[in-house]
Amino acid sequence: MRTWTVVVAASLCVFSQAAWTQPVIPAEPFHDAMRGTTPIDEEAKPPLIAPIENKDVIRGRAYAQQPPTIPHKIDGYQLDKNANRCLACHARSRAAESGAVPIGVSHYLTRDNETLGSLSPRRYFCTQCHVPQADTKPLVGNTFKDAEDVRVAPGPAGPAGPEAAGKK
Ligand code: HEC
Ligand code: HEC
Repeated sequence: MRTWTVVVAASLCVFSQAAWTQPVIPAEPFHDAMRGTTPIDEEAKPPLIAPIENKDVIRGRAYAQQPPTIPHKIDGYQLDKNANRCLACHARSRAAESGAVPIGVSHYLTRDNETLGSLSPRRYFCTQCHVPQADTKPLVGNTFKDAEDVRVAPGPAGPAGPEAAGKK
């Protein structure tokens, strides 16, 4: 009986503690960049699928080793264990004929850096890394800068880079 009382007392203690540490819920309605105002426990209405850009113009890359984005539509291209439609144009043997950029040499390396005579299995599912693009507003902010841009801070307030040294 005594232990029981102790258990009840302890759990009451835990409960009141939990109530004490509850975060304060703000008065304004819930808002999230992706869910809008739909509460977490309800299903949000998905936005319309934006049209995929199909300009066939190779885009710049945001950083070294970035997998290039796909500048064309890939709707209906089969890419599963039975067939890889991408390779029909992007395989080195097909590139001359298709005009597509042949897959990079890195795509022949195994994880142990062995070069294979054909595509490495870890590069088989192209869309793991390469994705088409749509002209839409970003859902969340991003302040990413390529290393080249952050190396030397511009202006007089920057660190003593080559420019600052020349002025002295
Ligand atoms: C019918 C031929 C064809 C097929 C199939 C195809 N591509 Fe392409 N791809 C091209 C051509 C041609 C280009 C060059 C730019 C252009 O004309 O769109 C290109 C460009 C690209 C580029 C840009 C390369 C760079 O250096 O920036 C990527 C990445 C790419 N394709 C990935 C894919 C993936 C992934 C698939 C399969 C889902 C695929 N492609 C299927 C023809 C094709
Ligand atoms: C694990 C990630 C990954 C997968 C999977 C992958 N790639 Fe890539 N791809 C990259 C990266 C990273 C680069 C840029 C560096 C390089 O060239 O290796 C690249 C570069 C390329 C390029 C440009 C090559 C050049 O010389 O400019 C093409 C075209 C390409 N990939 C097509 C494909 C196709 C087609 C597939 C599927 C058969 C594929 N990739 C699978 C990561 C991947």
